[in-house]
Amino acid sequence: MKKTIYFDNAATTSLHPEVLEEMMPYLTNVYGNGSSIHMMGRKAKSAVENARKKVAELLNTSPSEVFFTSGGTEANNTVINGCLNSLGVSNFITSPLEHHAVLHPLEFLEKKKALHLQLVKVDETGTVDLADLQNKLNEQPKSLVSLMHGNNELGNILDLQKVGELVKSKGGYFHSDTVQTIGKLPIDLQELKIDFLSGSGHKFHGPKGVGFLYINSNNRLNPFIHGGAQERNMRGGTENVAGIVGLAKAFELAVAKREERKSYILGIKEYFKAQIVEAIPGVTFNGASGDLENSLHHIINVSFPAHPDNQMLLFSLDIEGICVSGGSACSSGTDIGSHVLTTLNVPEERANVRFSFSVENTKEEVDEVILALKKILKK
Ligand SMILES: Cc1ncc(COP(=O)(O)O)c(C=O)c1O
Repeated sequence: MKKTIYFDNAATTSLHPEVLEEMMPYLTNVYGNGSSIHMMGRKAKSAVENARKKVAELLNTSPSEVFFTSGGTEANNTVINGCLNSLGVSNFITSPLEHHAVLHPLEFLEKKKALHLQLVKVDETGTVDLADLQNKLNEQPKSLVSLMHGNNELGNILDLQKVGELVKSKGGYFHSDTVQTIGKLPIDLQELKIDFLSGSGHKFHGPKGVGFLYINSNNRLNPFIHGGAQERNMRGGTENVAGIVGLAKAFELAVAKREERKSYILGIKEYFKAQIVEAIPGVTFNGASGDLENSLHHIINVSFPAHPDNQMLLFSLDIEGICVSGGSACSSGTDIGSHVLTTLNVPEERANVRFSFSVENTKEEVDEVILALKKILKK
């Protein structure tokens, strides 16, 4: 059987063995419910609170501002619904390049006439037009601005400092979906002017189905999921203790090894870029992803010139044992194309593939992928 090559680390990552080890007691012996007052319950509760402390420390904030969720999607939905229902925000500004976990709840609520939605302009490289954002905020200062830190398809990076200062200077609220950047880029909440931030465990070698939401203590939101009094009444539902413990451990490892991982992964990306440019004439890179210094180090989004076999490219790579995404993996399987690439007016006849790397990838794997591409795309 062919060896699998996994170049889809923006979709999800493997679970780090040390993370699994940390989770194991909570998947086996320590199975108490964090809401129970007996010893087993207290052990579970204490594990959750220790994890909260760790996450808060890594973000340089207070544990009282960290809430665990089922992932990035729930964190984003909580912010949007919370701003609408608890803070009286009616104008929402986002970009057409956001993940569906932001765009779809906003579009759903707009359709129900619950809110007014504005899309900030972006240029053909996916850069957010901050002058347009400023104009929109001048007209509607008390808006929620939701802009992602790192784009999951293009690897574009937003200047959180700059945007935060702009939004807060106008009196708005600022949310950033940091799902692709947590543990990869430094985030210091004492330095940033940010109200809400979303993260997800499975993007940094933690478990799936667990994430967190930072809510600045100046803001009080009602829960999005109503139920028990868990998460200090912010999120009903028995805590995913093992998941939360795993998320915190994975985050800790990611921060401790951030620079080491970054330089290794950037080396893979640099090598991949050089090899593909040489092997396939006419390839270009979508968004900022081809700019090695100014894009996420783990993402490169390749645009292949028109070719009769383009339609089959992802399928053919899959046959070769190579896992990649065409656009965002979160909507893969639907084959409706990428709203991000559509916004950037990437010509339809080109095939677009997002390759995303982790520390587990090697240059030898890059060589194998380039060989496979050459084979698939040979005339
Ligand atoms: C930028 C971004 N936001 C949100 C999500 C959704 O996160 P989760 O899978 O934890 O719900 C993803 C997942 O691909 C993502 O890349």
